[in-house]
Amino acid sequence: MTVDSVPRLGHDVDLTDPVHHAERDLSSLWQWLRSHEPVAWHPYSGAPEGFWVVATYRAATEVYRDSERFTSRHGNVLATLLNGGDSAGGRMLAVADGPRHQTIRRQLLRSFTASALASTRERITAAARELVERAASKQTCDFAKDVAARIPLMAICDLLEIPEKDHELMYRHGSTSLAAYSPDAAAEDSRLARNEILLYFAQLIRARADLPGESILGRLVEMMDSEVQLELDELLFNCYSLLLGGDETTRLAMIGAVKAFSEMPSEWERLRRGEVPIPMAVEEILRWTSPVLHGGRTATADTVLEGKDIAAGDVVVVWNNSANFDGEQFPAPGRFDLSRAPNRHLSFAYGPHYCLGAALARIELTALLEALLEFVQDMSVTGTPQRVYSNFGSGFHSLPVQLEPRAERLKGSSR
Ligand code: HEM
Repeated sequence: MTVDSVPRLGHDVDLTDPVHHAERDLSSLWQWLRSHEPVAWHPYSGAPEGFWVVATYRAATEVYRDSERFTSRHGNVLATLLNGGDSAGGRMLAVADGPRHQTIRRQLLRSFTASALASTRERITAAARELVERAASKQTCDFAKDVAARIPLMAICDLLEIPEKDHELMYRHGSTSLAAYSPDAAAEDSRLARNEILLYFAQLIRARADLPGESILGRLVEMMDSEVQLELDELLFNCYSLLLGGDETTRLAMIGAVKAFSEMPSEWERLRRGEVPIPMAVEEILRWTSPVLHGGRTATADTVLEGKDIAAGDVVVVWNNSANFDGEQFPAPGRFDLSRAPNRHLSFAYGPHYCLGAALARIELTALLEALLEFVQDMSVTGTPQRVYSNFGSGFHSLPVQLEPRAERLKGSSR
């Protein structure tokens, strides 16, 4: 790419526009930015008049690690940062900073330890086995809808004590609220879906005032009466954030994993032959799929980032999908290499806002890989995968596949 052929940010390429992420291959633009302008200005026709685009791994970690210089308090996604700020600012983990953020985060992290997640892990493993076995016995399916859509939703609903009859409703609201399935999806639908989710949790808590402290929901309710003095809106916003953070992202990683294995069967073979440990494969899947495109921050004071003068109040947006493919950090970044080590990807971000649910997401991806290894010999994409239209979530909402079963593993087959 020569200087003259570089697409201009905010003109030829509009990173706020979901269509540009869904329908264009921006990889050479990212590569150019990483090499020539790791921190670049992106004009925007609104208020603010633009934002900084952070493309390299080094600059990304500098922003993520320093929440005093780059706060999340006004919002952490373009959708809110370019629309007057997040209405949950200071009231929800992802958009709060400082001691209160740390206190609530510390409390909630107790629900994400290996022992706290043990029973959820069992249910996830059982669900993944059942879904994959069923899909493999049918041999063709839409992997996104028939398998991936079910596991993360079940896991987070399990943790949030959402009754099974409401899972489908949560799935619909969650998808509409975060990433859209067509270029014409309205922002209004997304806002309404978000309100529906908040309302739902308000009703759930009212109906279950006696929740035990062990579950996440119970822990949040308990915090209302403890010295934390969690307020009702903080509780609702955090439930919302857990539901969305926990569902769509993991789903996108799972779908991307199967697509990658279909396109690069030699990596699937390595996994099948036991040449790569599953946890290692999970990390490369997370890097490769980079389900969350960006993390947004606001500069709290005038500062300098990679030689660029950033003014107090400027919006600074870290692009995980670019940082995760930075050759300075990841040799041969364009190679899907399950045995990549080290693999300190930024798919869960970094620093004080490092994904709260990372352990759960890893459990889910592990369960999926184990189930695929148990029941599937080979997989191939049979139709056109459909991308989500979003400037935040990245991946596919439909992936028609053929799964060649491991005949000896399927129920009812002669052994
Ligand atoms: C592959 C799956 C996942 C990906 C890629 C992902 C990605 C991320 C990223 C990038 C952030 C940081 C946002 C920022 O810095 O602005 C984050 C934060 C968060 N994630 Fe996840 N996430 C995943 C799964 C989950 C799950 C399963 C849960 C819940 C059970 C969850 C809950 C959260 C919460 C509550 C935060 C806010 C933490 C804080 O600000 O202290 N995520 N996630």
